[in-house]
Amino acid sequence: MIGNKNILITGGAGFIGSHVVRTFVNKYPDYNIFNLDSLTYAGNLENLKDVQNKNNYKFLNGDITDEIYINKIFKKHQFEGIIHLAAESHVDRSISDPIGFAKTNILGTIILLNAFKNLWFNNWLGKSFYHVSTDEVYGSLGESGLFTEKTSYDPNSPYSASKASSDHFVRAYGETYGLPYVISNCSNNYGPNHFPEKLIPLFINNIIEEKPLPVYGDGNYTRDWLYVLDHAIAIDLVFHKGINSQTYNIGGFNEWKNIDLVKLLCNLMDTKLSRKSGTSKKLITYVKDRPGHDLRYAIDATKINRDLGWKPTVTFEEGLAKTIDWYFDNSEWLKNVTSGEYQNYYKSQYN
Ligand code: NAD
Ligand code: DAU
Repeated sequence: MIGNKNILITGGAGFIGSHVVRTFVNKYPDYNIFNLDSLTYAGNLENLKDVQNKNNYKFLNGDITDEIYINKIFKKHQFEGIIHLAAESHVDRSISDPIGFAKTNILGTIILLNAFKNLWFNNWLGKSFYHVSTDEVYGSLGESGLFTEKTSYDPNSPYSASKASSDHFVRAYGETYGLPYVISNCSNNYGPNHFPEKLIPLFINNIIEEKPLPVYGDGNYTRDWLYVLDHAIAIDLVFHKGINSQTYNIGGFNEWKNIDLVKLLCNLMDTKLSRKSGTSKKLITYVKDRPGHDLRYAIDATKINRDLGWKPTVTFEEGLAKTIDWYFDNSEWLKNVTSGEYQNYYKSQYN
């Protein structure tokens, strides 16, 4: 390692984390970037092949819930900044495994906070703990309104409850021990390297394989979609310019009802696959709803726009086209992640 500041990114082998690691490794040659990841089904070092040999990058294979290991690496590497993304991230999985989500997302976050506190207590200058969180902590919106940083927490799924709890612990460490922190709450990401259990990559994969597209309930649920690289840009800004103890909402200004998004995706995929127009739409299948399904998420990103100058750079049209191209250019990646455990998950979720 060559740099002069050790930064820990957790969950860097996952979807968003891999884009954040790549951004930091390439943009900050003076930082030593440590990527800590336990490589669950969602973690994949293939996502980082292009940076794995850079001399300011190191992979640490470890679990954030392993307190002894975490304390050991904090002591050894004296991390001055943490960007914490490691989490169980899929709402449907949280419904079948709430305890697993509580362990990783709540306990894992506390163990990291505690290790950071033990290392730097009363010597906080230049240190920062950044928790990358979700808009789901705010619960569900009705047909109108937007989530602001002042919206009360009202989580509805075990996943969002675990993320809300971890946000609260971060704040509590700030209040109680003076630990410097920032939090961001982001809307739905999409883009390359997205694990095909989430709506967009799942449906791309199913359309390629001509499998049913399982739309939950009536499909009239709304999400606010953001291209993953725009989230990575926002994370870079919040980490470097965010004000201590503040929260920043990040969103795409891009609301779509699921069914409209699915129909758009079907049209784009028909073109890409040179299939007759309307072919993929025939795969749409309405299935049993997700329990506790949040009706609508939409972010008011005024604060990060006004204070840090961030706004999305990629339109939905461009982002979806790039995403579809990526899955076609990386069919081996898709094949690898959909073999093995994925098949069991798919059967228990959709059959
Ligand atoms: P992901 O599931 O793709 O990746 C999670 C990563 O964390 C994986 O690499 C996994 O191996 C690792 N991990 C899981 N448990 C671990 C443990 N105990 N110890 C060490 N590593 C572990 O998730 P993602 O979609 O990239 O989300 C990353 C973060 O961003 C999460 O905290 C999530 O809550 C948050 N977030 C996600 C979205 C989204 O739309 N995907 C939006 C807002 C916020
Ligand atoms: O809002 C941010 C959150 O977005 C992140 O914190 C989560 O980590 C991320 O997974 C995502 O959560 P969602 O539950 O919104 O994403 P998902 O892709 O699972 O679902 C998007 C919408 O599509 C949601 O209304 C449920 C619906 N859906 C999803 C799947 C997987 C279906 O109709 N069918 C499906 O098979």
